Amino acid sequence: MRFEIVTLFPEIAASLRLGLLGKAIEAGRVEVATSNPRDFTTDRHRSVDDAPYGGGSGMVMMPGPVVEALEALDAGRAGPTRRVLLTPQGRRFDQATAERFATLPCLTLVCGRYEGFDERIRGYVDEEVSLGDFVLLGGEVAALTVVEATARLLPEVVGNRRSTEEESHTTGLLEYPQYTRPVEFRGERVPEVLLSGHHGRIAHWRRREALRRTLERRPDLLATAPLSEEDRALLRELEREGT
Ligand SMILES: C[S@@+](CC[C@H](N)C(=O)[O-])C[C@H]1O[C@@H](n2cnc3c(N)ncnc32)[C@H](O)[C@@H]1O
Repeated sequence: MRFEIVTLFPEIAASLRLGLLGKAIEAGRVEVATSNPRDFTTDRHRSVDDAPYGGGSGMVMMPGPVVEALEALDAGRAGPTRRVLLTPQGRRFDQATAERFATLPCLTLVCGRYEGFDERIRGYVDEEVSLGDFVLLGGEVAALTVVEATARLLPEVVGNRRSTEEESHTTGLLEYPQYTRPVEFRGERVPEVLLSGHHGRIAHWRRREALRRTLERRPDLLATAPLSEEDRALLRELEREGT
């Protein structure tokens, strides 16, 4: 898969060249390209922003340099892409969106700065995505988040797809608690069931703990999580226990 980032700070792409994603990029299994609107300016100051018509505080990103940065990316690639504007006004990014993006051959992320975009830029993208109900200085951190969440679903990044299949949000529930060595750490032991080697009991414990954790921390997720009759019985049991 290819990721493209339209940004005034292309240096941010370097932070993707770490860990598993870095290895996939190095091996050519995943591509990351950037395009800087400042390279498509025409004035002496290389301006990418200007004051808003109608007055008001801050500066607004001009449409010309952003659209030309997008067109330059189109010219350098054979196939199609999906263009995503990063904005606090977009649909909230979630695991389902990451899964949808992971099926694409290419994803182009457009980062804003200053007070945001000239409204006409919206006509050049396919959708708008927000990281959450807060305002960042710029779209770069949001772009990195979207790339990481999407890339780690790709077999070319995480070879073992099973490791992402049981996680929080992928199953509709939060993940069960995980433990590794040592068996005892400062008086706290790993639950005995996990040491038992009994796969059935371990699976049952994990499912119950995932349900418990979701009930405690994100009960809203239970409304849409795919639950079996056994899950519902476990939930009733947990509720009776006062989780
Ligand atoms: C200071 S913000 C501009 C916010 C804009 N004035 C508004 O109210 O919608 C600058 C840029 O940061 C990025 N940004 C800020 N918050 C974001 C969020 N929650 N999700 C995604 N991108 C965000 C966007 O690219 C935005 O254009």
